[in-house]
Amino acid sequence: MGRVIAVANQKGGVGKTTTAINLAASFAAAEVNTLLVDCDPQSNATSGLGFVKDPERVSSYHLLMGAATAEEALQTTELEQLWLIPSHKNLIGANLELVDADRREFRMREALAPLRDRFQFVVLDCPPALDLLTLNALVAADAVLIPMQGEYFALEGISELLDTIERIRAALNPELAIEGVVLTMFDERTNLAQQVKTELKNFFGDKLCTTTVPRNIRLAEAPSHGKPALVYDPRSRGAESYIKLAKEMIERSVISRQSSVVGEEPAAEPLAAEALTTEQTEERRETQEAKVEEIPATGEMDKSA
Ligand SMILES: Nc1ncnc2c1ncn2[C@@H]1O[C@H](COP(=O)(O)OP(=O)(O)OP(=O)(O)O)[C@@H](O)[C@H]1O
Ligand SMILES: [Mg+2]
Repeated sequence: MGRVIAVANQKGGVGKTTTAINLAASFAAAEVNTLLVDCDPQSNATSGLGFVKDPERVSSYHLLMGAATAEEALQTTELEQLWLIPSHKNLIGANLELVDADRREFRMREALAPLRDRFQFVVLDCPPALDLLTLNALVAADAVLIPMQGEYFALEGISELLDTIERIRAALNPELAIEGVVLTMFDERTNLAQQVKTELKNFFGDKLCTTTVPRNIRLAEAPSHGKPALVYDPRSRGAESYIKLAKEMIERSVISRQSSVVGEEPAAEPLAAEALTTEQTEERRETQEAKVEEIPATGEMDKSA
């Protein structure tokens, strides 16, 4: 049975879509059947894989509305073992159209259920909101991967996300785990980035992925060519970092499967949302603000690829 990973953070522009596309492509390149589901009306994962806008194409909107099956929505991609369920901007309407619908949070979960045995990984790209679309993704998921930008407001809003995860566990999906937190657009040369990393390590412990994703121009360019970075420029640091992240995730999923087979508790305790109060976030931000004044401005985007 495949592992369903939702890539979520309600903060905009932190690298969710870049992570979803490139992680999914890296799984596929590791020769495991992988499905990427675009759950965002912005449809960036869809266009990032080279699919032009087409309102007629079966999309995640149809899945949520019960108007098509996941099988009917599947699209093949340039990578042999990567499939896509595309999105379309009409998905924004699903938030309203489903308000009074029966089992409205379970629509994605139920739609994907028949496909779960066909894919080793299913990666869901979420919109930058804690709306019904993200809720559907989190209810469908086994685990959530949280991309965070290595900047000094990184932890802002995270208590709200962790709180949502807690509530989903309590009411809708008790199995939902935190797969990990991955630092994106990370510039390891700066003191600030190192401080943010230390801060996140203290807070998330083992959940902080060892792999970090550097700021890399190839990752930003690849979507306009409709390709994952590992197809566009396989030797770029960006492509390499996501291949490394995929390996780390595959290892983690093997470990979590082994521990569930022998009936052990998973290695790390799930994070409690209450662990970080708003005051603490404020406090951390103030310390970070103080620190940032001592640090020279971060360098330009890495153009060395
Ligand atoms: N590691 C990186 N290096 C350079 N550019 C990056 C990197 N990661 C993401 N970007 C760029 O930053 C922008 C935001 O990234 P992305 O679209 O992945 O974020 P997002 O969290 O999905 O945004 P949204 O919240 O709008 O869905 C994009 O232009 C993307 O190309
Ligand atoms: Mg996005």
